[in-house]
Amino acid sequence: MKSGLLSVFLLTSVTTFGADDPAKLFEVHCGACHAVDHMRVGPSLVEITGIYRNNPDGFVQWCVKPGHKRPGVIEMPSMAHLGEPALRRIHAHVIAAAAGKTEQKIAGGDPYSIPRPMLRRPQVQRIFLPDASPAAIAVALPGDLSYCFDAGECRLRYLWKGGFLDGFSYWKGNGSEIAKLDGEIIYREEAFPLTGDAAGNETRSPKFLGYNVTKDGLPSFRYRRGGITWTETIQALPDGSGIERRFQSDAQVPLTLATPRNATLSSSHGQPTLTAAQAKSFTLTLRWK
Ligand code: HEC
Repeated sequence: MKSGLLSVFLLTSVTTFGADDPAKLFEVHCGACHAVDHMRVGPSLVEITGIYRNNPDGFVQWCVKPGHKRPGVIEMPSMAHLGEPALRRIHAHVIAAAAGKTEQKIAGGDPYSIPRPMLRRPQVQRIFLPDASPAAIAVALPGDLSYCFDAGECRLRYLWKGGFLDGFSYWKGNGSEIAKLDGEIIYREEAFPLTGDAAGNETRSPKFLGYNVTKDGLPSFRYRRGGITWTETIQALPDGSGIERRFQSDAQVPLTLATPRNATLSSSHGQPTLTAAQAKSFTLTLRWK
């Protein structure tokens, strides 16, 4: 008991001690994404030095509230929790580490192969994905679920569990290659999950209207299909057994739930058919088997 407590205490003090050293700070908090002389997930220290050599204030500001600058990279998570003094020490370390180095053009580099806890979720990426139209959007939800929303067909295509994307081939090539999923597909949706008088009228092709981002960072997709304008927001169930899909629509007609293979679908209104009034706003819960 006593020795257990003691070792916890020792571990804590060792960690605290290490955390004062700027090289250690850098390694722990930045190193997964930033390399000295080549692009990793984010720009190299050589590139960063070119921007912030004489601007520690700007460097700290960025780390506290990172912007979105470069196309095709993930958003850098805020490092505000490290505090300004530590960020200033990291700045000095970055400049020193890059001194005398030049940028190497290394083929590849994978913006998504980062330790999962460092990936700020949700993430939304337009990217070429397997088994989807060229207008696919990959979304990483908090937790370990990700899904493919097909903006061409305006519907959920599939969900996978594990990491997010292995984007290597996409980013190194000319953009026409297809990203690999970093995980196992656990559910594929065969068709839009609702049918009805108007929803069944699929002669007009669906039209994607874009998406907003909720305050939790989740995308809310807007699209028209079957003469109805829809908004759909997907989130993971807390126990990881499925997803919750929040819909809003301007449907004037009753809607019927599809019966997906390998999953159960239920509505917040209980019945497999929604009245026109219920169809305005409802939640579908999908659990895979
Ligand atoms: C999870 C990955 C990740 C981590 C961890 C991370 N960064 Fe970044 N960083 C990025 C990405 C991605 C970019 C490029 C963002 C962009 O251009 O939109 C970036 C860009 C930067 C830039 C360039 C800003 C500019 O004006 O171009 C600086 C400076 C920076 N990071 C510093 C840090 C420091 C210091 C740490 C650790 C305390 C850190 N980063 C941790 C991913 C990360």
